[in-house]
Formats: sequence, structure tokens, C-alpha cells
Amino acid sequence: MKTRVAVLISGTGSNMAALIDASQGADSGYEVALVLCNVEGAGGLAIAAAKNVETVTIPHKPFGKDREAHERVVDEALRAARIEVIALAGYMRILTPWLVRAWDGRMLNIHPSLLPLYPGLDTHARAIAAGDAEAGCTVHLVTEGVDEGPILGQARVPILADDTPASLAERVKTAEHTLYSQMLGDFCKGLARK
Ligand code: GRF
Repeated sequence: MKTRVAVLISGTGSNMAALIDASQGADSGYEVALVLCNVEGAGGLAIAAAKNVETVTIPHKPFGKDREAHERVVDEALRAARIEVIALAGYMRILTPWLVRAWDGRMLNIHPSLLPLYPGLDTHARAIAAGDAEAGCTVHLVTEGVDEGPILGQARVPILADDTPASLAERVKTAEHTLYSQMLGDFCKGLARK
């Protein structure tokens, strides 16, 4: 049985698309059973629907500052879909300890830097400004600190002399798609063996 994964997105969903595509191989170890989004009309929703994956949108705005109230509805949707593992993929919400604890050890994230370098936003501009020779991406387990948590894997790409944040982001994104699919597959196979 493949592990039932939910991918949580807020926008474009290119990682989500890569995760869905990789899941379709017979030995992927997981299936994307749900794509959950907090932004109505986000680009990733149409892509998921075109790939025949169930989607649900739960906007955070009606909950105002009560992040946990929003998360409780999100959590209900995940449990109703019998989700076992969450893959955050450009889900632009800071999570409360409540949701993190509820999915402790079963929630992954991808971040576009070589953590612990550059947690947070604008990672590519920061790496270029620092004069770094390489950039990359990190897949990690989600813990209560933002972009912290045990690292499952990283991929490195060179920073070229004429790189802009946009050109570097594009090169890193390609690496993200491969790394995330691989790490999520390995993680789910590991769970199945436990
Ligand atoms: C990616 O760069 C990911 O590392 C970060 O958010 C971005 C999402 O991009 N967490 P996409 O929606 O998967 O294209």
C-alpha cells in the first residue's frame, strides 16, 4: 500500500506537480491523495485537478488572526482524506505548535537554500549578495521553529557570475523537483518498514 500524502500549497505548485508525477511510478512509495491550498484560485489547483488529484481550498482569511482555528479545519480535511504524511510545498503559512505537534515526524518541507543558511524569504538574493559559490535546496522534517528541523537531504547548484535571484531560483527549482520527489519517496518507504 502506498502512503497517502497531502501536498499543501499556496501558489504555483511546481513542486506539487513534480511530486504527483513522481508518485505515479509503481515503486514510488506514496500517492498524492489530496492537494490542500489556502489561496482561492492558486495556479497549482488547476494543475492538480488536471492530474486527477483531489483538491480542497481552505482560505485562512475568514479566521483572521486565529491561525489555530484555520489549522483545525485543515487538520479535519487531512484526517477525512486519511492522510498519513504532509508535504509542504510553497505553503506560505507559519504553522502553530498545535499543527506541528499533531503531525510530528510526519510533515516535510522544502526550502530553497542550503539550510541552516538563509531560513525565511529572499534566499537567492541573500546567497548572491553574500558572494556564495553555491546555492541549493533542503528537504527537512517540520518542527516548531521556521525552516528548522532534521535535514533529510540537500541538493547543490552552482551560483554563476551573472546570476540574478530569478535565474538562480529557476536553477534551484529544477533541483528541488528531483530532490523532493526522491526524499518523500524514501521517507514514505521508511515509514512503511516501521
Ligand atoms: C519553492 O521554492 C519552495 O522551496 C519554497 O516555495 C517555493 C514553492 O514553489 N518553499 P512552487 O509553488 O513549488 O513552484
